[in-house]
Amino acid sequence: MATNHYYTQAIWSATTSPQKYPPLTEDIEVDVAIVGGGITGLTTAYNLTKAGKRVAILEKREIGMGTTGSSTGNLYGPTGEGLAKIASKHDEETMKSVVASRLAAVDFIERLVKEHSIDCEFKRVPWYYFTTPESSSKSKQVENELEAAKKTNMEVSGKAPAGFPFQVDSILEVKNQAQFDPLRYVQALATAISGPDCRIFEKTKVEHVEEGTPCTVHTSGGKVKAKKVVKATHSPLGIYGVHTAMEVYREYALAVKLKGNLPAGGVYWHQHEKQMYSVRPYSNEKGNFLLVLDASKMVGHEKHTEESFKKVEEYLRKHFEVDKIEYTWAAQNYQPADGLAYIGTSPLENHTYIATGFAADGLVYGTLAGMIISDAIVGKENKWAKLYDPKRFTPVASAKKWLEENMHVAKHLVKDYLFKGDEKGFEGIASGEGKIVELNGEKVAAYRNEKGQLQILSAACTHMGCVVHWNNGEKSWDCPCHGSRFSIDGEVLEGPAYANLANKGSLPKSQMEQSLNQTGNKKKEGEG
Ligand code: FES
Repeated sequence: MATNHYYTQAIWSATTSPQKYPPLTEDIEVDVAIVGGGITGLTTAYNLTKAGKRVAILEKREIGMGTTGSSTGNLYGPTGEGLAKIASKHDEETMKSVVASRLAAVDFIERLVKEHSIDCEFKRVPWYYFTTPESSSKSKQVENELEAAKKTNMEVSGKAPAGFPFQVDSILEVKNQAQFDPLRYVQALATAISGPDCRIFEKTKVEHVEEGTPCTVHTSGGKVKAKKVVKATHSPLGIYGVHTAMEVYREYALAVKLKGNLPAGGVYWHQHEKQMYSVRPYSNEKGNFLLVLDASKMVGHEKHTEESFKKVEEYLRKHFEVDKIEYTWAAQNYQPADGLAYIGTSPLENHTYIATGFAADGLVYGTLAGMIISDAIVGKENKWAKLYDPKRFTPVASAKKWLEENMHVAKHLVKDYLFKGDEKGFEGIASGEGKIVELNGEKVAAYRNEKGQLQILSAACTHMGCVVHWNNGEKSWDCPCHGSRFSIDGEVLEGPAYANLANKGSLPKSQMEQSLNQTGNKKKEGEG
């Protein structure tokens, strides 16, 4: 039986008190409406407020509690895609510009931390990418990355420093990168700019955005008229071409206490045969923690997501003496087809800005997006705007991933709709589990709670109609097509979907079985 043993809470929200801003309860008018209160939204709002614009931030949860609060807090110039790969997909100049822009974003964060005396444990530390004897088959990849990194303006080395916590086969060290607590940072930005010219609304869900002059943002609490709208929601809400050019992944993280000392401060990327582990130490007033995040799994593709947490735990126990697992959580990332983030306006819109495709490097790209978008809105030239323009056309660099992504969306549309639902119907659903079942010819997502009651939702994702899949590690319904996620009550957890899954009712076990017997829909047809 599945349990909720693994999923608890991200270390940042568990060790940081939430801020409190009111929900929107009336119609308002501003210069810029920002959808999303993470690092992208807050950085954009910070710059716009300083430039004299009137801003509203609309956050459906609380400030920083989305992807920003589920990240690792690592800040670095290299990318998860790999610099060598960016150079081969594009060219060396593009690779150098990517690094330069990312380093500028890290410097921007450091400047704000100093300027506002932000207590977020910002530290300059080295970043390492390495293999060990067990993963030496990937050493060539590390060596290629070292050669690529030497061509940038980063200070690099190919030697492990004394006391390195792993036995190294091959290594790239980049000096002077950084780490911080991302949640405390964005909360401090919110405090710094909150006021009459920057109104922050929490628990305010954006339901629809109408482009126009002005644009209208429809929310759960009122309408916002704005000259410009920034969708700072990690994946832009609604339907965009970029959704077809990104693969969506989930990463699984653990924060543990060790029996011995923590490794020295640093970002440790341990390359394995098929995946990579990201390790970092972190200390605050609650203690000393080691954070480990595994390589990504495609959203909606793992049958037993709980296994992903177990694999991270196994990795940790193999390399460190773990005293206690304190926090476990997961985060989402969107990997762009040509390896570059999408920041700017989309081809069909003039007043709405999007920022997505950050892969696993979102804190730096989110900051960079805030810099680029705020410059665009105030009419200031930004030397990296063209590099990340969502309207760019890169058929050669994007081809393979674009094809793979769209083949898999097509495959899910066909396979999931042909699938007849679980062969045991509702009976086969254990407490704390969810399954897709066919009811009266319709696919439904059924979850049985601890009391045996069934919560029935439409299984059709409200974004573009793919069938959602059960995620047993996090108890959610995840869409394999573009990464929307929904709670067991159908509420949107992650976009691009705007709307919740349609509720089909909730019945005690006995009534549901009776109803099924009457309609003759008790499934015994097996998998399609
Ligand atoms: Fe696009 Fe579900 S996220 S169809």
